[in-house]
Amino acid sequence: MASEPGIPNTAIVGLQWGDEGKGKFVDVLAAEHDVVVRFNGGANAGHTIVVEGERLALHLMPSAVLNPNCELVIANGTVIDPSILVEEIELVESRGLSLEGRLHVSSRAHVVLPWHSLLDGAAEARLSDRGDAIGTTKRGIGPAYADKIGRSMAIRIGDLLDEVHLEAHLDKIAPLRLEELKIAGNDTNIDTKELLSKLTRLGQILKPYITDTTWLLHDRVSEKRSILFEGANACLLDVDHGTYPYVTSSNASALGISPGTGLPAKTLGRVVGVVKAYSTRVGGGPFPTELDDAIGDQIRDRGREYGTTTGRPRRCGWIDMVALRYAAMVCGADSLAITLLDVLSGFDEIKLCTAYKAHSGEILDRFPPDARLLEGCTPVYESHQGWREEIDTCESISALPAACQAYLEAIQSHLGVPIEFVSVGPDRRQTMRCAVGTCHTNPKGVPWPLENA
Ligand code: GDP
Ligand code: IMO
Ligand code: MG
Repeated sequence: MASEPGIPNTAIVGLQWGDEGKGKFVDVLAAEHDVVVRFNGGANAGHTIVVEGERLALHLMPSAVLNPNCELVIANGTVIDPSILVEEIELVESRGLSLEGRLHVSSRAHVVLPWHSLLDGAAEARLSDRGDAIGTTKRGIGPAYADKIGRSMAIRIGDLLDEVHLEAHLDKIAPLRLEELKIAGNDTNIDTKELLSKLTRLGQILKPYITDTTWLLHDRVSEKRSILFEGANACLLDVDHGTYPYVTSSNASALGISPGTGLPAKTLGRVVGVVKAYSTRVGGGPFPTELDDAIGDQIRDRGREYGTTTGRPRRCGWIDMVALRYAAMVCGADSLAITLLDVLSGFDEIKLCTAYKAHSGEILDRFPPDARLLEGCTPVYESHQGWREEIDTCESISALPAACQAYLEAIQSHLGVPIEFVSVGPDRRQTMRCAVGTCHTNPKGVPWPLENA
């Protein structure tokens, strides 16, 4: 079914360090789009959808899976562990949803092989002895992308369908990778014949879905179908534009869409930046507004801030306008979806970071390009009055407490980007849409009136 005419191709991307609630918004906006596309990352992502109290956590499957009229594409820019994808296909089909003819997996996407996850874990173990670990999800993402860029040791999804080629290639690369693993301190032996038979079997299960998604997506654009791009990870984890080296290994900002899909940049009509009403980060790396105290614990408890993929407690802190201004700029955010606002009920004071004080004493309003520079920064805060009321049943902006509305307007005003959605709970229904039509013309820095669409 074609979408309403005039619905622009839209990207949903996280503007912080991940887990902003992208999955929820892909599910919500999928109702207005025909095709939903994952363009980056792999099973390091954990995207949660809640519909009428029922929760579904996905790692590779596009989060539009509960919208039966939406086609689902896992495009070339992703790295796929085929056993995880097959598990997710089975999970979705066990709920009575059919994927045949609906799910399309790029033959160009790269395969995450068993040694990738083992090498990821071994490198992290060695770095953590020196207190230097990135804190990866150990899903093999970095080593798989390294092999993609290195070219000669990589396997792509399309290769799973050619057993003769796959066997010759595995015979060449397996001994080298196993030797490397041993040097890294892991003696695991992987039987190449068993691996070949497993990969061939998984390839046959995936065969009905494997296709050239570049042509498929161009066909859908020509047919005037509207496309929703589902960002995984987030802008501040982007390998080029995030807090390097504490990042993931793909272009996880909106900038990854073109290389990750084969569609020209001009295909993208609008970008919705998803932003938590506070900040979280999983793993290592600088986090200027981190709260290592009872307030941080209270945010973690109320927000159930534990990783969807690894179960790790997420680091929590106040919202950071310096980081968000930068991320909104890099992604070209046209509007914002503010999520987990309900988590902030019950605080006397809510802080919002407006600038950083550098080690030298200099006040910075530009996000620095280097994790070491960021580590030396302390936040300069603006204080906001909190609110006591629970807001998870509010259905309109005007029903929110006045202090809560003032906090939203402060975010909008500091970023110069209009708020289009406000989320007050994990369920699809706990979502408000604001009128943003006039916001684009308002001068930056002036608070816009927030009202329902
Ligand atoms: P993603 O990786 O960006 O898709 O986000 P995750 O699914 O990893 O983490 C977001 C978590 O917050 C999930 O458990 C969601 O169900 C939940 N969530 C999303 N929006 C809201 C909200 O507005 N309020 C609350 N309380 N939870 C939310
Ligand atoms: P979603 O899509 C939160 C973080 C990891 C680690 C760093 C590198 O659910 O928002 P990797 O395994 O990618 O090599 O880990 O990036 N990270 C995420 N953090 N949400 C994610 O995805 C993440 N994907 C990667 O915690 O710090
Ligand atoms: Mg997540």
